[in-house]
Amino acid sequence: MGNPIIMPEYSIRPVLPEDREWIRSFLVEHWGSDFVVVHETVFYPLKLPGFIALQGVERVGLITYLLSDPDCEIATLDSLTPSQGIGSALIDTVKTIAFRSGCRRLRLTTTNDNLRALHFYQKRGFILAALRPNAIEKTRKLKPIPLRGENGIPIRDEIDLEINLAD
Ligand SMILES: CC(C)(COP(=O)(O)OP(=O)(O)OC[C@H]1O[C@@H](n2cnc3c(N)ncnc32)[C@H](O)[C@@H]1OP(=O)(O)O)[C@@H](O)C(=O)NCCC(=O)NCCS
Repeated sequence: MGNPIIMPEYSIRPVLPEDREWIRSFLVEHWGSDFVVVHETVFYPLKLPGFIALQGVERVGLITYLLSDPDCEIATLDSLTPSQGIGSALIDTVKTIAFRSGCRRLRLTTTNDNLRALHFYQKRGFILAALRPNAIEKTRKLKPIPLRGENGIPIRDEIDLEINLAD
């Protein structure tokens, strides 16, 4: 028998000024700082546009992104209530924005240990676009990153994934 299908109620809305404090503490708790570093670039998600997923009044998901023609890059994606469709809905929302803004590519970077993210993105049409072996060594000079992921895999490499929006 497969997993039971949950019928959750949630809504998605753009990030608002009143979300700032929640986002700041969320980033520090889940990403170790209020900035993220990918491909040697520092992103401050608080300065980026984004969307929040809500269940009732509770914030249960966040995506932040950057439009930089011809790409749209996802800086962060987090869902606090797994397997209820929230991660997919946040991705779809940004994909629509990117397409309407004329972006040709939606891209993001994750790390080698994040098997859940690699599964999630590839099932949603993203392809592996680049591998940067040992990239996290440089990132560790800018912020603390655990040596191993939750699953015990050493956190070491960056992997870029992308989806072509022009097809
Ligand atoms: C990766 C991540 C964003 C996925 O978020 P999520 O909300 O669990 O994603 P979804 O619920 O849309 O999809 C997850 C699974 O639940 C299933 N699902 C979705 N809605 C469902 C429902 N109503 N009932 C049952 N299952 C459901 C989906 O089919 C999916 O399985 P699949 O990928 O095998 O198809 C989340 O695990 C996360 O926040 N991880 C930590 C942060 C992170 O790694 N972010 C990415 C860094 S780049």
